[in-house]
Amino acid sequence: MIDFLKFAVAAVDVVPHPGETLWLPAVGSEFASKVDNLYWFIWYLSLFFFVAIMAGTAYLVFKYRLRENARRKTSPIAGNAKLEVIWIAIPTLLLGVIFFWGFYTWMDYNVPPANAMEVRVTGQKWLWYYDYPRDNVTGASELVVPVNKNVRLIMSSKDVLHSYFIPAFRIKKDIIPNRYTVIWFKADRIGEYYATCAEYCGTDHSRMMSKVKVVSQEDYQKWVDAGGESEGGEGLTMAQKGERQFASKGCNACHGVKPGEHKQGPNLVGKFGTQERLSLNNLGPEKTVTIDENYIRNSITDPASQIVEGYQPVMPTYKGIIKDEQIDAIIEYIKTLK
Ligand code: CUA
Repeated sequence: MIDFLKFAVAAVDVVPHPGETLWLPAVGSEFASKVDNLYWFIWYLSLFFFVAIMAGTAYLVFKYRLRENARRKTSPIAGNAKLEVIWIAIPTLLLGVIFFWGFYTWMDYNVPPANAMEVRVTGQKWLWYYDYPRDNVTGASELVVPVNKNVRLIMSSKDVLHSYFIPAFRIKKDIIPNRYTVIWFKADRIGEYYATCAEYCGTDHSRMMSKVKVVSQEDYQKWVDAGGESEGGEGLTMAQKGERQFASKGCNACHGVKPGEHKQGPNLVGKFGTQERLSLNNLGPEKTVTIDENYIRNSITDPASQIVEGYQPVMPTYKGIIKDEQIDAIIEYIKTLK
């Protein structure tokens, strides 16, 4: 919870954009401004009519209040054609404006430009990862895109219904298993934003977030050349790299790394080299297993095959999401947990 709050605060902190208001998230895409314009138009229109109707009502209530000794009768009203035409025509006109404005924006939202670059977004309990088919980047834990470029997201889920939401870009769409959904955007400001899950999907739904980085074309190319590693990592020990991976891949959501830290999965402090009792073992007849490099590696790529006693088989597989050297680094990190 505290981690999430820190992340949320950090996410807000890193977007000091002009046009940010108390009510709406920062504007990070062309489309966001279009949505906001329509939003504010409807908001101010509603405000205008709210004030006008309330003030008119108050005035008439006051003007025609029951006075002492008042025996006045109002004249019979049969109708007023002119008034009726006005109060039908004006709202119809305004609704027409809202409809066509909204429809135009909606079409824009739903039809990606043909020249858009493609990124695959995969959601699974409870993380996002990104594959860039053109640039040979796979399993990235952050969405990194060049500024002022049309980007089309082709999205799917590995397990249940999720919803991909980048508030700063004003785009959101459900992510469904066995099916692709598509959204697109053109980020027009360099900066850091965040994506989050907008469909309740289980225990750690609220932690299902990832960073969205809008960078210059050169920085994007650098990132691609580095194989999609924005962790940097120069000068870090293997265990330190592992610690970063542990956080960016969301392992820390379920595994405690401090003594006595209780989470959904086994706490990893002091576990390396010890024996663990299994409640399920699909790999052999043993009821206990030594926690060594092979066990950890297997737990990451095929977690359901060996389940520690007292825990549920809920961990998702990281096969295809995590690279070998990242697994190596995580193993080194786990060795340091004492
Ligand atoms: Cu995924 Cu909520």
